[in-house]
Amino acid sequence: MDGAGPEPHLFVVFGATGDLMQRKLLPVLHRLGTGGRWPAGSLVLGVARRPMDDAAFRAMAVGSLGSDPSHPPASARAFCDATLYYQSVPDETAASFAQLRARIERLEREHGLRGNRIFYLALPLEAFGPTLTGLGDAGLHAGPGWTRVVVEKPFGRDLASAEALNRIALRYFDEKQIFRIDHYLGKETVQNLMVFRFANMFIESLWNRERIDAVEITVAESLGVEGRAPYYEASGALRDMVQNHVTQILTLVAMEPPATRDEDSIRNEKVKVLQSVVPLAGDDVVRGQYAAGAIAGSPVRGYREEPGVAPGSSTETFVALRLRIANWRWQGVPFYVRTGKRMPAKSTRVVLTFKAPPVTFFQTAQEYRANPDRISILIQPDEGFELAFEVKVPGRELRVQTHRMKFHYADVFGELPDGYETLLIDVMLGDSTLFVRADEVEASWRLYDPILRNPPPLLPYPAGSWGPDAAQALIAAWGHRWFLE
Ligand code: BG6
Repeated sequence: MDGAGPEPHLFVVFGATGDLMQRKLLPVLHRLGTGGRWPAGSLVLGVARRPMDDAAFRAMAVGSLGSDPSHPPASARAFCDATLYYQSVPDETAASFAQLRARIERLEREHGLRGNRIFYLALPLEAFGPTLTGLGDAGLHAGPGWTRVVVEKPFGRDLASAEALNRIALRYFDEKQIFRIDHYLGKETVQNLMVFRFANMFIESLWNRERIDAVEITVAESLGVEGRAPYYEASGALRDMVQNHVTQILTLVAMEPPATRDEDSIRNEKVKVLQSVVPLAGDDVVRGQYAAGAIAGSPVRGYREEPGVAPGSSTETFVALRLRIANWRWQGVPFYVRTGKRMPAKSTRVVLTFKAPPVTFFQTAQEYRANPDRISILIQPDEGFELAFEVKVPGRELRVQTHRMKFHYADVFGELPDGYETLLIDVMLGDSTLFVRADEVEASWRLYDPILRNPPPLLPYPAGSWGPDAAQALIAAWGHRWFLE
């Protein structure tokens, strides 16, 4: 964080009784508050449909914080009593929003706040539009201080709905007031992609079609759908992970250096990457769904057997793509992308493989291809990076062997902050660099819209595997293999 800290404000959370608030936002606010990083005098106003008073809301929050030992009960109670308030907004009528406005103004008066407001929409997709409209019609888009609105993912479910949501948001709010959140951008290792590239001349000089043979981005999870079937059934891996998190990683790996460090310079470059991607054809995509299998030796059920999932569900839990980026830097370098649930381990990595030396004295071309030099960026877990390179095995006979040089964040910096913590502080400071701009979200949907409209067949894969065999064949057809296995 540079410069002055955030100003005191009212942090209004829609969906305050929901999972995101109770599991993610509250712990972050508590940590910021007790660590002196949340401006003194700031308050939280929880908003949800159900009737409840402040005391009941505080008790609920103390209970949620209590489930994690890093929030001592006395500190959690003191924090909740001093900062949490609750307002029921039972529906989206003008009367309910007028009551909300009155409550906000009263709280600000009573606590000497100057009218800086954050509205955090921790809501399901279908509630975003009506809530933005409700806020705007009640005049809450422009208060006496600054006003910012944070919209959780998914921002739309296809291009048309994302455009419609942008129209609603922009009817009331300026782009500068809107913070479309993608929690992957809060991860230190995702932000480090830019530093790794643009602060290290030797890295950046290799980062192009002259030197790089292929780029792999894998975002693997061992978890399954975890009680989120109603959401996931209507979403699937393409909407849940690819359109947002995976695409954000892709743009940061492929973008050009921005002209300056300001938010628009950076986001302009990210949008240009999306505009340069060659439209996807059906055979560039593999869709899979996990069947019963085993993870770390324990049997797990298939997706269709998960509670709340339709027995004949055609929702994908795995996607693999091969992409081409038709620009000066990347022409001819394939980008292979995959994400899936119930894969063998949780692991997010970017692997750049180098082209073979023009003449190889020490290995055959096949030997090199089987084990090329590469840079792996470990986004999670074991955050850091690794360089794989060849060394001579000591001895008379000339033999080479691949070794790895590793940098792990934890060895140098200890535990990394939670992505939400970084992003909440940025919202409080009004810095939208790590948030997704309207044109960026639309450019991303534009890329995947044809696949959503005309999805390729769904292929089963056993839980605990790296997806359907077709995902291997997808990139083998272009002469490559996945490195994270
Ligand atoms: C969420 C998705 O946005 O990201 C989940 O909805 C997914 O399905 C999660 O599990 C992964 O986040 P992380 O930070 O654990 O990699």
